Amino acid sequence: MSAPLEGRVFVVTGVSSGIGRSTAIEAARAGMDLVITGRRADRLAEAAKVIESLGRRVVSVVGDVTDEGFTERLLDEADRAFGRFDAVFANAGYGAERRVLDFSETEFRRMFEVNFFASAHLIRDAARRLLAARRPGHLLMCSSCVARFTLPGYGPYSATKAAQAMLCRSMRYELKEHGIEVSSVHPVTTTTEFFEVAADTKRTGRPSVAEHAPSYFVQPPERVARAVVRCLVRPRAEVWTSFSARLGAAIFTAFPSIADLFLARHLRYIPACAPPDESSKSRTSPQS
Ligand SMILES: NC(=O)c1ccc[n+]([C@@H]2O[C@H](COP(=O)([O-])OP(=O)(O)OC[C@H]3O[C@@H](n4cnc5c(N)ncnc54)[C@H](OP(=O)(O)O)[C@@H]3O)[C@@H](O)[C@H]2O)c1
Repeated sequence: MSAPLEGRVFVVTGVSSGIGRSTAIEAARAGMDLVITGRRADRLAEAAKVIESLGRRVVSVVGDVTDEGFTERLLDEADRAFGRFDAVFANAGYGAERRVLDFSETEFRRMFEVNFFASAHLIRDAARRLLAARRPGHLLMCSSCVARFTLPGYGPYSATKAAQAMLCRSMRYELKEHGIEVSSVHPVTTTTEFFEVAADTKRTGRPSVAEHAPSYFVQPPERVARAVVRCLVRPRAEVWTSFSARLGAAIFTAFPSIADLFLARHLRYIPACAPPDESSKSRTSPQS
């Protein structure tokens, strides 16, 4: 009997590092062919080599997910190389550990452009193509556990992740009857480049809040990757990779004052909670 994902085509964004890279490799192990993307060509080439070494076909498309026409190019490449795509994972994204008031309007909008609008555009375009071709498919977005609760310093980021989760849930209802699955993925603290970018560690030398995350809230990207691939085999609405985070999110949503109590223990580590003169020393610049 052939494996359930054997020969299926999977489009994944943000494959130059972290969750996207691990997911693409795990999917290749499960027999999928890949269309991968990211801005760093050298990192993408390295990921492509690993995928090919697993005996799968891969097409790399280098670029910024917010570039005009980029999504169309990505899905066109899947059609050109493989004649179709079966699943899409809108995973590319970034965070910035900074107070809401310390974001410029441009930085604020940029975060929504990358994390929300680019992933929404990809999933919507992919859905339209599947509908037009009368094909089933599976569309996923990398949201976060902070789609359901947040921390100081993570307001705009959480807002983009909550927006992604809601969009996925709505599209799930709308597309189900057409055989198209939609899922949101909700990782907890994952050991990728994410927090280096969020805290702008190279420039500021400042460790991220992730340094202080309880160990049961920390996981490697491979764990998320395995959960995403399991979801491709057995689709469901949401992928959670930590039971405690899922339970915490449910409790924090129902009882916000419990969230306040729990998070109070950790607030002192968060630069966004420092007095303004202290935290302004560690302001970061947006990833562009
Ligand atoms: N790490 C965590 O704790 C965590 C927890 C929950 C959710 N997430 C979510 O997981 C997803 C992946 O993050 P990660 O943890 O794997 O972080 P990562 O290691 O920093 O990877 C982010 C990926 O997104 C790509 N990317 C960022 N901005 C882009 C842009 N404008 N255009 C194209 N590609 C872009 C990056 O590639 P280039 O820089 O080469 O473009 C990179 O491949 C994100 O959506 C993040 O919000 C992460």
